[in-house]
Amino acid sequence: MSKKPKNTFDPYNWSKKRINTLMDKISSIKNDGLSLSPGQIWSLKKLLFLDYYARAFVTIIRKNDFQNWYYVDTHAGTGMIGFEETDLIKERFPGSPLVAAFRSPEFSFTHYFFSDIEDKSIHSLKERLQSVKPLTGAIDYTAQVMDFKKTVEFIETKKKFGNAFLIFVDPTGYSEIKWDLMKKLLAINTADIVFTFMTYSIALNKENTMENLATEQSFNEFFGNQDWKKCEDGNALVELYRLQMSQFKKYVEVIPVFQTGERKLYDLIIATNSKGGSNVMEDTRRIMEVTTTELFRDALKVITGKTTDLTQFFGNSNPS
Ligand SMILES: C[S@@+](CC[C@H](N)C(=O)[O-])C[C@H]1O[C@@H](n2cnc3c(N)ncnc32)[C@H](O)[C@@H]1O
Repeated sequence: MSKKPKNTFDPYNWSKKRINTLMDKISSIKNDGLSLSPGQIWSLKKLLFLDYYARAFVTIIRKNDFQNWYYVDTHAGTGMIGFEETDLIKERFPGSPLVAAFRSPEFSFTHYFFSDIEDKSIHSLKERLQSVKPLTGAIDYTAQVMDFKKTVEFIETKKKFGNAFLIFVDPTGYSEIKWDLMKKLLAINTADIVFTFMTYSIALNKENTMENLATEQSFNEFFGNQDWKKCEDGNALVELYRLQMSQFKKYVEVIPVFQTGERKLYDLIIATNSKGGSNVMEDTRRIMEVTTTELFRDALKVITGKTTDLTQFFGNSNPS
């Protein structure tokens, strides 16, 4: 008798379907004229990761005795990204706050906290959250202009028995992230952290630290020590950071995100104390592998009506 395969998750079909669904959800606000967060095809990867992880997080949390589960987006941006690539210049994709919000009402967080240092970003985000309300339902959210440091202080006030957090830390670079602040987030037992480690730019800037005292100082603050000086390349730097995070969390995984081929741009570092959370990694790693520029173009063709053969685009996919 043939055995049912253990994991029938098909990352390719899943990704295609989710790209299409997410783009479809912003079709009515695509040309709203509000400000956009900058994007590239590879931004889509972290967003698809978030989409998958948010669903898994809520599913796991609901099986436990939590009263509140917060989605926290410390660098929320505007809620919508545009693309620099010439042939994608008119296309849009939901940014992290909308990706998380669109998981509602099926996989809703009890509260959403979005913050960003820029006034304009939060203004655009609030407008967009209002516009997509028919799709998200009445979610309980706060969107505030706030520096990362203040957001960390705010999260600390919510730390109590019965509260869990999914914290998405998606900075522009590295200088606004200080190890002292990361440590505070990592010390929250019931917080899963997803951190975009900008490997390429961190490795590149390390070269400047010899001549530039300010850059050296921001590296010291980012890592919280000077061990980074011994790291020879981006992989060693991300491994150092992973090890530091492991002092606080049981499971710390790194998922590399490549631009093309071997050229790595950033790593997603996921830190959790939950076995369930760590189990999700294998599926998400496979999603990262298949989310190519070509896949995205395919999705665009369907959305913009350039491809009529939908059956070729969609395959069997799971979970939703
Ligand atoms: C990579 S973008 C975020 C994109 C967003 N997560 C998305 O998926 O659309 C980084 C954001 O960090 C914000 N930012 C920069 N420095 C910050 C700080 N110190 N505290 C909070 N936000 C900051 C920028 O305004 C920008 O919107």
